Amino acid sequence: MRQQIVAGNWKMNNDLSQTESLITDLKNAKKTSKAEVMVAPTFTNLYKAFEALTGTDIEVIAQNMHFAENGAYTGEISASMLKSVGVKTVILGHSERREYFNETDESLAKKVDAALANDMRIIFCFGEVLADRKSGNHESVVESQIKKALFHLEASAFKNIVLAYEPVWAIGTGETASPEQAQDMHAFIRKTLADKYGSDVANSVSILYGGSCKPNNAKEIFSKPDVDGGLIGGAALNADDFFAIVNAF
Ligand code: 13P
Repeated sequence: MRQQIVAGNWKMNNDLSQTESLITDLKNAKKTSKAEVMVAPTFTNLYKAFEALTGTDIEVIAQNMHFAENGAYTGEISASMLKSVGVKTVILGHSERREYFNETDESLAKKVDAALANDMRIIFCFGEVLADRKSGNHESVVESQIKKALFHLEASAFKNIVLAYEPVWAIGTGETASPEQAQDMHAFIRKTLADKYGSDVANSVSILYGGSCKPNNAKEIFSKPDVDGGLIGGAALNADDFFAIVNAF
């Protein structure tokens, strides 16, 4: 069975004391599902979060990284720097990175290579904007994002890759893809993988849904056969809401 995963992307929220307090709440929460749980604090709070969550089954992951190993890249963070503070998984390709920081499929392919070269696991995000959904282009947009950033990889790389379908029109908007829309896209993504790498690879990759996933809709979305979990934004900032989603499995 594929690994179920619920990851909280805290985005640019929570200073150090807010991070500590949310972590205390997370440690007190009761987990009743088998889903793997991850949280992605900001860079400045990664080490503190890693220390505070060591010994729990909540993994601390990063929201981004640069593709270079080190050097003259002011303001950037490398894979080895993340690893040096205990981080083994990184989110790449989030739509906010693509939209506000000009990340492209090409630069993301380099980040993917750098993360894998450093033995890191990747949560790779992609998804269409509203205009693509309205014009019926959503599948071809997603297919192109996946192919351009990932299809240069060997099949074996996919044991370290989790995919996250995040329709941009559903992120932070309160509008969610319906469970059927999520299932249809996840099945399409799995078929795209199967066509290139075969069904064993396609059936082993976890595909998460992200976009206004909340305690009141997670159960229905997660009940779909090709939805293996969620990448959660707003609702991950509250421990009760986050664990209600984790426990929706
Ligand atoms: P929301 O859950 O706030 O819509 O954010 C989703 C997201 O972008 C997770 O990466």
